[in-house]
Amino acid sequence: MRWFVTGGAGFIGSNFVRLVLQERPDVEIVNYDALTYAGNLENLADVSDHPRYRFVRGRIQDEASVREAMAGGVDAVVNFAAESHVDRSIVGAMPFIETNVVGTQVMLDVARQAGVSRFVHVSTDEVYGSLGPQGAFTESTPLAPNSPYSASKAASDLLVRAAWHTHGYPTVITRCSNNYGPYQFPEKLIPLMISNALDDKPLPVYGQGANVRDWIHVEDHCRGILAIVERGRAGEVYNLGGRSERANLDVVREILRQLGKSESLIRYVKDRPGHDLRYAIDCTKAESELGWTRTWDFTAGLAQTIRWYRDHADWWRRVRDGSYQKFYDLWYADR
Ligand code: NAD
Ligand code: DAU
Repeated sequence: MRWFVTGGAGFIGSNFVRLVLQERPDVEIVNYDALTYAGNLENLADVSDHPRYRFVRGRIQDEASVREAMAGGVDAVVNFAAESHVDRSIVGAMPFIETNVVGTQVMLDVARQAGVSRFVHVSTDEVYGSLGPQGAFTESTPLAPNSPYSASKAASDLLVRAAWHTHGYPTVITRCSNNYGPYQFPEKLIPLMISNALDDKPLPVYGQGANVRDWIHVEDHCRGILAIVERGRAGEVYNLGGRSERANLDVVREILRQLGKSESLIRYVKDRPGHDLRYAIDCTKAESELGWTRTWDFTAGLAQTIRWYRDHADWWRRVRDGSYQKFYDLWYADR
């Protein structure tokens, strides 16, 4: 079997590629990735020579390039590729439209025309908008995205839904809550706070730090996606979540506590415009239908993540100063 993974050089995609290579001996992976600022082949350096792994550099919105990379046959597409950071979408939305919206439609068209019989689209709980203090998103919560990022993901979800309803193309959508774990780009809350704290730099908390997210370890998310690739029903949406709601300030304090650093590093800064107050996911459907459940406890998962960032300071320092981008030229110079 050959699976075509887009965005496999990013945070979640690279964890997924490694998991599949380890646990599914009959699956070959084509990792198709543009290597934007967030894509880093170093994330998969340990499997780069694996006999069932192949990397192709390309953008998902380039139809001819996607078609060529799929030549030889593909059994499933897992579409991770996206512009993923809310703050960047506030500064400039166009790359989000080009990749998340146009790119998803190109992937759907090429995969359908190539006869790929499974298309899993990796989406986010942010498409549901924001919650008050009570309740949780279910798969039937109406879409009400608030940021350019989440609006672009909601648009892509609707295109995926349309491919199923109009063409009978067997798509599945996953909507997950906030991930944390190894290889996350240090622009996102948890790796940013860990890396700044390790360097005794200020930790910028938006507003009062009262916004709530539901945290899931990336390995649990990847296992949920794997279950959905293998057993998810066509035309369905599956929520995935960590059942670990935390206010941002509590997350930051826990990081400082585990690192033995002072809370005086916390800086309250100007809030994110349109900042969603609270996300919470009801993932009963995935749990009962697929037998999937999250296994990482948040405090233990955070400790493992902190250890990883402590042990891989070279990785996040290179990522932060952009020099990891040179890795690609170096790596492929003699290949
Ligand atoms: P990431 O930013 O770490 O990685 C994105 C990857 O996509 C990078 O490797 C990048 O090079 C690649 N990419 C970007 N534009 C591309 C293009 N036009 N063509 C091909 N490749 C391109 O993102 P992530 O956090 O790993 O998220 C992966 C997916 O999961 C995204 O679709 C995101 O919306 C979704 N998601 C993320 C979270 C989270 O907490 N991080 C939660 C739920 C869902
Ligand atoms: O819910 C799933 C989504 O989670 C994914 O779809 C997105 O790709 C992913 O980036 C994430 O979005 P968030 O906006 O929730 O994640 P971020 O890490 O940017 O922020 C988490 C919370 O922390 C949010 O309330 C904003 C806050 N924050 C973030 C940063 C970067 C701060 O207080 N300070 C910061 O410096």
